[in-house]
Amino acid sequence: MKINIITIDGPAGSGKGKIAKYVAKKWKLKHLDSGIFYRRIAYIISKKKINPINKITIKILINDIDQISSQKNKILRSEKISNIASIIAEYKFVRDFVNTQQKLTIKKSKNKNGFVIDGRDIGSVVFKNASIKLYIDVDVNIRAKRRHKQLIDMGEKSIYPQILKDIKLRDKKDKSRKNSPLVIPEGAYVVDNSSKFSITQNQLNIIIGKYINGKY
Ligand code: C5P
Repeated sequence: MKINIITIDGPAGSGKGKIAKYVAKKWKLKHLDSGIFYRRIAYIISKKKINPINKITIKILINDIDQISSQKNKILRSEKISNIASIIAEYKFVRDFVNTQQKLTIKKSKNKNGFVIDGRDIGSVVFKNASIKLYIDVDVNIRAKRRHKQLIDMGEKSIYPQILKDIKLRDKKDKSRKNSPLVIPEGAYVVDNSSKFSITQNQLNIIIGKYINGKY
């Protein structure tokens, strides 16, 4: 049986994770946050005090990892880990490793309904043949404000102008990197999520519901 794959791509802080959670709950799909894999590798690099630009050492480290968990953890969301993740996500060997891990996670899962996967290259590279693709966009100032609030709520120190600068830099890295840059995947529904939840649940229900219920 072919499983349903819904991809949700978009820049940092676009709210794609929240949308993915809603979709997963509503249609009993499993949610996979692909950014977690990059964050977990970044966390190991940080713990081992490896310089993220040291590709050779990171390659050796990755060759030694058999499997990486897709479990979320608050510790992975710090600004330090976000910045390291953004650097190492440029390396092709890291991307190849993460893509294999994603496919392995799906293969091993007992969930028969399918997956909703969010990230940067899910609809454009990793699951090009996905059933439905969404691309979520939000003005960078709004994303920085949301991220600033999120960090404060997490008890982290956060200075808004610095957060805005970091997000702009991460956007630049995501969109201009040679390997799997952030693009609108072919055939994706582009959604502006600039207000609190501007893609209404109704819109999602129409886009996804039609497909899932087999009415296409
Ligand atoms: O989505 P999130 O911000 O958690 O992702 C962490 C980092 O991993 C991002 O900076 C992004 O560059 C990278 N990433 C990626 N491709 C994905 C998911 C995340 O390059 N599919």
